[in-house]
Amino acid sequence: MTVRKAVIPAAGFGTRFLPATKAVPKEMLPIVDKPTIQYIAEEAIKAGITELLIVTSRGKEALMNHFDKAFELEAVLERDGKEEMLKAVREVSDKIDVHFIRQQEQKGLGHAVLYAKSFVAGEPFAVMLGDDVVVSEKPCIGQLIEQYEKYGSTILGVQKVGMEHVSKYGIVDAHSVGERVYKLQGMVEKPKMEEAPSDMAVLGRYIITPAVFDCLEKTPKGAGGEIQLTDALVMLAETEDIYAYDFEGKRYDIGNKQGFLQATVDFALSRPDLRSDFMKFLKQTVKNL
Ligand code: UTP
Repeated sequence: MTVRKAVIPAAGFGTRFLPATKAVPKEMLPIVDKPTIQYIAEEAIKAGITELLIVTSRGKEALMNHFDKAFELEAVLERDGKEEMLKAVREVSDKIDVHFIRQQEQKGLGHAVLYAKSFVAGEPFAVMLGDDVVVSEKPCIGQLIEQYEKYGSTILGVQKVGMEHVSKYGIVDAHSVGERVYKLQGMVEKPKMEEAPSDMAVLGRYIITPAVFDCLEKTPKGAGGEIQLTDALVMLAETEDIYAYDFEGKRYDIGNKQGFLQATVDFALSRPDLRSDFMKFLKQTVKNL
């Protein structure tokens, strides 16, 4: 069985971007001219995902509007012959079915994923977090789907982050079983450098088997008083093999301001319509420092 469905948990408060996120969902903040959630949706489409569930919360209606048909706007763009803009507006909604569900209370990532149980309906599914944007030749989640097709088990997307950064991530304890593939022995959430089993961090991309829902239903509150997906996956590892895949690609941690700014600069420099003038500006700015 292949993976057709993806879940984007997007119900969090986005406190690291306050005050911007008081009225605008974090997932709607643009990198250049596209909301971050659209990069994630496009990655899913490229990987062959056909159904997307976005878990939202109160005050995040802009996410629904973004994936809805903008009838009046499209009519005006059509009338004025603005084909490129029309394409940009329709880009995602034409290619994937997007569903929404509201998490009533922000009780953690694991709790948000539990809301996907009936959408997933017993199939393996992808979980994609908007905090990680990955630029790669092959879509990151597509790389994990390929591994799922080989192993038929839960696959966690990981990358080496360097020992000095382990305390910010879920870190895997795993041994190599193939090129870029590791079998999981354990996982620790945000360990101290001296206690980390490796520097391989789980980075916002997962393929998960539906058995995780039984685990999530039994998972008590963990770190930060939240129901953690990591805890449910550790429970799942007691009954099923779990693998970690060191995916190829440059990943931006846009959940924090530094990562967000770095993505903005790199994405602007990769755009043919912006590159030249923006580079001149950057060079001048650096020179003036
Ligand atoms: P984060 O811990 O990064 O939280 O959640 P956040 O609210 O997005 O951002 P900060 O840390 O306050 O700035 C990781 C992912 O889990 C989702 C978030 O939307 C984010 O994609 N999440 C978290 C939920 O959907 N529901 C929750 O209850 C908690």
